[in-house]
Amino acid sequence: MKAIFYKTQRKRLLNYASLALITVLLLSLVVGCSSSSQSETVKESSQRPIIVQGPMPIEAEDFAQRLENVKKEKSGTFEFYIGTVDNYPVIVTKTGKGMENTAAATAVAIERYDPIAIINQGTSGGHDPDLHVFDIVLGKRAVNIGSLKTANKDENEGIDPTEWKPMDLMASEGSAGEDPNAEKIRYYEGDKDLLAAANAVKDKYTKGKVVEGTIGSADVWNNEVDRIKWFHNKYGTSVEEMETASAAQITKAYDVPFLGIRILSNNKVNGGEYNPNTAAANQKYVYEVVRKYISTLPSE
Ligand code: 5AD
Repeated sequence: MKAIFYKTQRKRLLNYASLALITVLLLSLVVGCSSSSQSETVKESSQRPIIVQGPMPIEAEDFAQRLENVKKEKSGTFEFYIGTVDNYPVIVTKTGKGMENTAAATAVAIERYDPIAIINQGTSGGHDPDLHVFDIVLGKRAVNIGSLKTANKDENEGIDPTEWKPMDLMASEGSAGEDPNAEKIRYYEGDKDLLAAANAVKDKYTKGKVVEGTIGSADVWNNEVDRIKWFHNKYGTSVEEMETASAAQITKAYDVPFLGIRILSNNKVNGGEYNPNTAAANQKYVYEVVRKYISTLPSE
């Protein structure tokens, strides 16, 4: 009697167990499906997307409006407009301003969308007196101009920024402050295929000239002409802004082709007044660069 009771009890328990297992399996299937919808537009396509970054709304939304089949995704404060240009996947990222936002938005985008290339674009301030508002600089090189080591001075010896030395954050895994080998300028090279695409459509831009140059970045807006000249002479900077070198550093870490494209919205050195309309003009040009780059990619 007792044995029969235990037998039915065990059978019932087994039934419960298999029911629970089926429920868990079904649930994980549902969760799996919904999380894969995260970047469906991109995953539907076997082509790796091109990412175009812009810091402020005026530096990203114009390009986003040029996309077709757009879907918006968010991660933290970073906004991704996922769409297509000439049927090729392109994602516009509104990164927010500055080095930290840009570094994080770049890493998130690489992990999430596996891009074939990244372009960081937007406005900048001139360091070169031959460049004027509406001219565009293609970042043959990008450099962090906020990574500096001061001279050794004791109390009451004052401060002297012209003695500050560049500090290469990538020189070694030891303390950059102690390592004499880190006292050098680190340049990040722009990708040659992206540069070639940008040079190939130069003539489509008529509001100013398009030149290759050096983009300097830091979370600083320099308005001291002598300091700007110091950077221009020591680092060879054509323009300054707050994002390109950060994206360049992270794309280098992941080995993703990268180019910075910056329009001058102001130039303190030659009296060029700030003009916010430059942001849209740059995006119109970068759109042509992206179309050209897509046309050079091997078809599937
Ligand atoms: N110095 C620093 N950043 C500048 N920007 C435009 N001009 C300058 C300049 N002269 C851009 C930065 C940042 C925002 C403040 O404007 O890249 O996104």
